[in-house]
Amino acid sequence: MLSRAEIIQWLQCDDATTLFLEADRLRRERVGDTVYFRGIIEFSNYCSSRCAYCGISALNRGIKRYRMSVKEVTDLALELDRMGVNTVVLQSGEDPRFSTREMLQVICGIRSQSAMAITLSMGELPAADYRLLREAGADRYLMRFETSDPDLFARLHDGHTLERRLEQIESIRQAGFQLGTGFLIGLPDQNLSMLADDILLTSELQPPMIGVGPFVAHPDTPLRNGNGAALDLSLRVVALLRLLNPRAHIPGTTALDTLAPDARERALLGGANIVMPNFTPSGYREHYLLYPGKPFASAVAVESLDTMKKRIHALGRPVGSGRGDPLSITPAV
Ligand code: 5AD
Repeated sequence: MLSRAEIIQWLQCDDATTLFLEADRLRRERVGDTVYFRGIIEFSNYCSSRCAYCGISALNRGIKRYRMSVKEVTDLALELDRMGVNTVVLQSGEDPRFSTREMLQVICGIRSQSAMAITLSMGELPAADYRLLREAGADRYLMRFETSDPDLFARLHDGHTLERRLEQIESIRQAGFQLGTGFLIGLPDQNLSMLADDILLTSELQPPMIGVGPFVAHPDTPLRNGNGAALDLSLRVVALLRLLNPRAHIPGTTALDTLAPDARERALLGGANIVMPNFTPSGYREHYLLYPGKPFASAVAVESLDTMKKRIHALGRPVGSGRGDPLSITPAV
């Protein structure tokens, strides 16, 4: 078990090569070589929250808002399933007009035709709603705590408390979801000791899925002048999370891609085992800019899926088929 001091040491030392090698070794030993895809559909960019870092926050009045229909979301999810992407991640802002009621319709629509894994990432909801969504057949829920520092959390989230966020995360787990959580790397005013605490808090929560990414400053947000995170620091965080969470599913997240063209590969070589291609239809996806520089190639999704598969095969890693459930709950065969 790594101590806080050792984590800080790894975050600031000159050369982290041995850290990356050890994370890669442990990943191979404990979760294997297979890389799983999680297909993202960003179904609405309406948001009633005011997170200081986020480009689709209610504070940002300059963007075009969109909301896909229940049918569009359901049909696209089922199309991903047919393409062999057997996990869909349904992500949105906190949109009161595409909330639990509409999502229940989507889940029932998917479940009537498919056993694919359904992951939700639609922000904070009443505890009873998490249970309804879970009972309807959603499997996983992603909610980051964003930062483990209570003061920084409150400053970034319009006075909302970290305590409340952690309660939400607990409600998600209590509802029976496979939980995914994590934080932002390189937020303004976040120092290395806070980052070490972020890594430790994530690991204490023992989530079956972990998602972390670099903060990328968005010009139309209060944090427009922030510096964001360096690629190397972000990769060190991914590697440290692998050491502390050997069996977790850890993606090379989309935000990493903004830092370098090969960032995702480098994450896969330093502890990560998941990639999350974006399938939001063009016409919508260019308006879902949580941060600038998000890749939105005009190529149709299927082509970019092929490219991504080639890139993974080039690393000598197979692409997984099936849902890619957390290892602890996958029945032995
Ligand atoms: N840079 C990087 N990640 C961001 N997110 C929101 N805004 C930004 C940004 N400017 C992340 C948050 C949220 C996830 C869906 O997107 O961590 O949990």
